[in-house]
Amino acid sequence: MSSTELPLLIVFGAGGHGRVVADAALASGAWRGVVASDRNPAAWGGELLPGVAIVPPAALADLPRPLALHVAIGNNPVRRQEAHALREVAPLASVIHPRACVAASSRIAAGCLLTAQCVVGPMAVLGEGVIVNHGAVIDHDCVIGAWAHIAPGAKLGGAVAVDESALVGAGSTVLRNLRVGAHATLGAGAVALADVPAGQAWAGVPARPLERACA
Ligand SMILES: CC(C)(COP(=O)(O)OP(=O)(O)OC[C@H]1O[C@@H](n2cnc3c(N)ncnc32)[C@H](O)[C@@H]1OP(=O)(O)O)[C@@H](O)C(=O)NCCC(=O)NCCS
Repeated sequence: MSSTELPLLIVFGAGGHGRVVADAALASGAWRGVVASDRNPAAWGGELLPGVAIVPPAALADLPRPLALHVAIGNNPVRRQEAHALREVAPLASVIHPRACVAASSRIAAGCLLTAQCVVGPMAVLGEGVIVNHGAVIDHDCVIGAWAHIAPGAKLGGAVAVDESALVGAGSTVLRNLRVGAHATLGAGAVALADVPAGQAWAGVPARPLERACA
């Protein structure tokens, strides 16, 4: 495909996470260019990164085709909701930094972000809209549900399951064969030695439930 046929990537979400996505997209060379958008009018007319303009959502329809869309919002339910709301704008695309280490046998669904220095091991499966943040490690045979976020430096042992919209916090560790349930949160720096039930927040070493669940 010549560079003029490559899609223009829309990065939807003009915050810090959007900057990470735009940086990875530019480094990858997989797009004709990158443009950002956001629902916050205060962002319009500015730049997400040097040369990456932030345009209102209403301007997206006028962009020259082909287009691709990446929803760059860290909050898992909001990311899923915006991907649904914007599905007519352009097909959802994964953004993979050239220095992500991704096994050829892994399967990556649409809308995922794989950042610099992350590792996705053999036969790992990532659902739609998953974030694998800087330096995170997803070992062999892990299954990550749609819209989950594996935060910077988190480590998942082999065959860990992380269900839909769960957050595995920065620098945490999940031992092999365990499960982090849907919409659960594992706190930053935690070490999970047991399954984290759906919807619960666990933290500490070893990880224990916090008194209240959190988003
Ligand atoms: C675990 C977490 C979800 C709790 O958030 P919260 O519900 O707002 O909790 P609070 O900050 O009110 O703290 C509640 C208690 O848990 C403790 N706590 C909070 N986070 C903790 C952590 N990561 N490890 C150990 N204890 C923690 C607090 O010290 C507090 O203890 P106390 O009641 O004895 O004072 C949050 O602190 C966290 O670690 N989130 C992950 C963030 C992350 O990695 N994001 C990725 C960004 S890219």
